[in-house]
Amino acid sequence: MKGLVFTELLEYVEENFGFDVADKIIEEAKLANNGSFTQAGNYPFEELLRLVSALSKELNIEIPKLLEIFGEYMFSRLISLNPQLKENFSSSLDLISRVDDIIHPEVQKLYPGADLPKFNLVHRSENKIVIDYISSKHLEPFAIGLMRGSAKNFNEKLIISQEKVEDITRFTLVLEK
Ligand code: HEM
Repeated sequence: MKGLVFTELLEYVEENFGFDVADKIIEEAKLANNGSFTQAGNYPFEELLRLVSALSKELNIEIPKLLEIFGEYMFSRLISLNPQLKENFSSSLDLISRVDDIIHPEVQKLYPGADLPKFNLVHRSENKIVIDYISSKHLEPFAIGLMRGSAKNFNEKLIISQEKVEDITRFTLVLEK
């Protein structure tokens, strides 16, 4: 997992819950590098899970909820770091439906070595998309947070539901009018 995800998570924790909480979860997660990450480096996914699990204990918030909140924050951070990524899109559904063929391939150039999920667009109409999420990481709540962050960025609201189709998660997103 890219160091960027770790540095953003720790910055989010410091800003919202203070340095003490950030230090505490780093200690509790027993990381190999004592919590020093570089944006461009790659670190075991397991370490991210340990950090999020320590944060969950500390704040008494369920892990999926934390991943969703962090995903929403992460979208605005990713776009402010890379504003060009949003330029060609006029709505959140527009952007989300092109994650796999435009956004993430660009991400791969910007952050070499990124281990990205696969998204397959199943259906697209003006106010609705159906998209399959395929990843062994199973970060569904993080994906939902990113989608919510995208909607917020375009001043829109999305109704998001999900269902399991074997090992694939099928998301249905409907634009709230
Ligand atoms: C709403 C749109 C997006 C969705 C639904 C989405 C979804 C995801 C998910 C679920 C992951 C976790 C990895 C996995 O599940 O296997 C991920 C990773 C990532 N995404 Fe996206 N993403 C979106 C937009 C973006 C944008 C705009 C950027 C801009 C830079 C971005 C950059 C990244 C990066 C850097 C990673 C980490 C890769 C790694 O750790 O190796 N994503 N994305």
